[in-house]
Amino acid sequence: MKKLLALIAAALMMAPTVCHADEGMWIPMLLGRNQAAMQKAGMHITAQDIYDINKASLKDAVLLFGGGCTGEFVSDEGLVLTNHHCGYSYIVKHSTVEHDYLTNGFWAMSREQEIPCPGLTVTRLVYMQDVTKEVLDGVNADMSESERETVIENNIKAVGDKAVEGTHYRYVIKPFYYGNQYFMYVNEVFTDVRLVGAPPSNIGKFGGDTDNWMWPRHTGDFSMFRVYVDGDNKPAAYSKDNVPYRPLKHLEISLKGVDEGDFTFVFGYPGTTRRYVTHDYVDMAANQENPVRIALRTIRLDHYNAAMRQSAGQRLKYASRVASIANGWKKWQGESLGIDRLHGVEQKIAQEEQFRKWAVDKPQYRDVLDQMEDNYAKLREVEMEWVYFSEAVLASDFMQRAYRLYRMMNLTGEQLEAAAAKMLDDSHKYFEDFEQHSPIDKSIFTECFIYMWSHGYAPYLNKKCSTAGDVEKLLNRYYDNNIINNPKKLEKLLTLPADKLHKKLIDELPAKDLDLIGVAYSYTYSSAKRQQYNDADDNIQRLMRTYIKGMMEQYPDSNFFPDANLTLRVAYGHVEGFKPKDATYYTAYSTIDGIMEKENPDVYDYRVEPRLKELWQKKDYGHYANKKGELPVAFIATNHTTGGNSGSPVLNADGQLVGINFDRCWEGTMSDLLFDPAYCRNISLDIRYCLFIIDKYAGARHLVDEMTLVEQ
Ligand code: ARG
Ligand code: GLU
Repeated sequence: MKKLLALIAAALMMAPTVCHADEGMWIPMLLGRNQAAMQKAGMHITAQDIYDINKASLKDAVLLFGGGCTGEFVSDEGLVLTNHHCGYSYIVKHSTVEHDYLTNGFWAMSREQEIPCPGLTVTRLVYMQDVTKEVLDGVNADMSESERETVIENNIKAVGDKAVEGTHYRYVIKPFYYGNQYFMYVNEVFTDVRLVGAPPSNIGKFGGDTDNWMWPRHTGDFSMFRVYVDGDNKPAAYSKDNVPYRPLKHLEISLKGVDEGDFTFVFGYPGTTRRYVTHDYVDMAANQENPVRIALRTIRLDHYNAAMRQSAGQRLKYASRVASIANGWKKWQGESLGIDRLHGVEQKIAQEEQFRKWAVDKPQYRDVLDQMEDNYAKLREVEMEWVYFSEAVLASDFMQRAYRLYRMMNLTGEQLEAAAAKMLDDSHKYFEDFEQHSPIDKSIFTECFIYMWSHGYAPYLNKKCSTAGDVEKLLNRYYDNNIINNPKKLEKLLTLPADKLHKKLIDELPAKDLDLIGVAYSYTYSSAKRQQYNDADDNIQRLMRTYIKGMMEQYPDSNFFPDANLTLRVAYGHVEGFKPKDATYYTAYSTIDGIMEKENPDVYDYRVEPRLKELWQKKDYGHYANKKGELPVAFIATNHTTGGNSGSPVLNADGQLVGINFDRCWEGTMSDLLFDPAYCRNISLDIRYCLFIIDKYAGARHLVDEMTLVEQ
């Protein structure tokens, strides 16, 4: 151990830059600082071509898609590309048994066929600005965190309101480096967005959860939308008179593709990273939280997957919930393994040792890490309660429904009536297949509670139980006799006049049907625990602000990228394969041949569309094939990305679109905390496969004709 620490420390001394090559999600406005490095890495364009406020630049083509994905303009008539999994819920919403767009795909053959998607917005950044001085005006070192927050909140409102006054723009102001810096984003939000095209699921989701987070990958993960505006080219609510938006900039598409070693950059909206946290956080995530989350989700997934194997109906019923449960489940496994492989905790400790040495004569920094450790100790005492509440207590539909009813306690009058009516409505649907679903739900409920109890996180069951068998009996009885699972009694309850319902929710149910959820909730969210958590967390945020400021002084020549916070960023790197394990090397791109290798009519995730197979047999790839005559499907590169980067344009050295980002390789999913250039790879859909599907497979050539293709 000592030797290892010394080794890591030595490595850090040699490379005091803290960040690795290819690591980082950079601020577009400040990209001038990266320009030399980007050009050295192969980029032909300038930072100003990427972000400019005086003339149209690439940033005008990049969009926040909905609330958590990225999209990009690819035509001068407002055509937007994003991932299939980002458009998923809108494709599902418009799918019926007769028109199952999710399964069969959807292609608008004319503008009239494009489908409005109420609620969907896309957001374009108009400009950004450093507003640190204005936001921190009046803040001083003697203030408490909450006083500081109040001053900042008021300043933010004043600065933001002034910036958008008299315009149709909206603003967002966000802290960077834990509040050492603030940037304002002035945005244009488009509210009439229509579905234009989506491939069938066995193209757009090919490989499903089996291949999710994995390389080699063959998922055609894209969908298309169009932004509509009023006659002045301005955002407007849906109207049939709206017209396609004419963007300031749309991306050119390169048909040249990319080769191993080529420069690429990803331009989009990464959600959250925690690059600068201390060893406590890394240890807590990798060794304390992830294993519990994974174990509890395994229980759920085992039951749902078994059900999905039973019938097509059950598969449809559970597909989307399994997709979301499995997404985190699989990512956390990769993350913990990656942290372990990198000796992440030891690496952080070694880094902290360097800091301590450096800070020894600097009173403002000297104690920061000791204080951080004290606060983490307090935080870690209660942290797991929240993990258990979300992953175990609320694992079953039964408990989620009980929790919903339990929270109605806080409502009265019309609000309570509306909530009760909504719950009744949802319950009708729920009970429709209760007979088939409830054995699964009941098993999940009991198994997750037993797991939690046996790990000491449900001590309230000890009064009545001393063995797992006792717990199981108790839970079974509770499930079978609960009003939540009794359609008649529940209907009677939910149709009571508000005052009577309120009385029952307060006086009667907490001691009976809502007993367990009430006890579990009060146990987890006791005010003492909440206080302990909030205090520790506030302190950690404050200490992080000081710690990162110190590190910047410690390494004045390093360029520290700010953690992702769902603002527009640029990550750059190059196309590169990697070695995931001994005696295995992954090359950098996949082809349609791999789809046919994976084909298996018996495995849902690996069914192949007959028409796709036909095109493959004829090698009818048009000008979408590469020089070798292969049809590329996806490629990997060293760009640093995270959740939210889904749908992000992947651009080449000339700033032309070559791919759409959609995932990361499993072995490198620790990159939210620790980046390792040997393992961290983003996965992109090759734009040529996307165009091939639109043009050759779907026959929607008119959409490709709208785009600006560059052959050479
Ligand atoms: N892993 C990708 C991301 O984090 C894709 C998720 C959607 N696909 C799925 N099979 N669950 O978002
Ligand atoms: N699929 C992720 C998303 O929806 C991107 C993968 C990642 O986390 O890098 O944003």
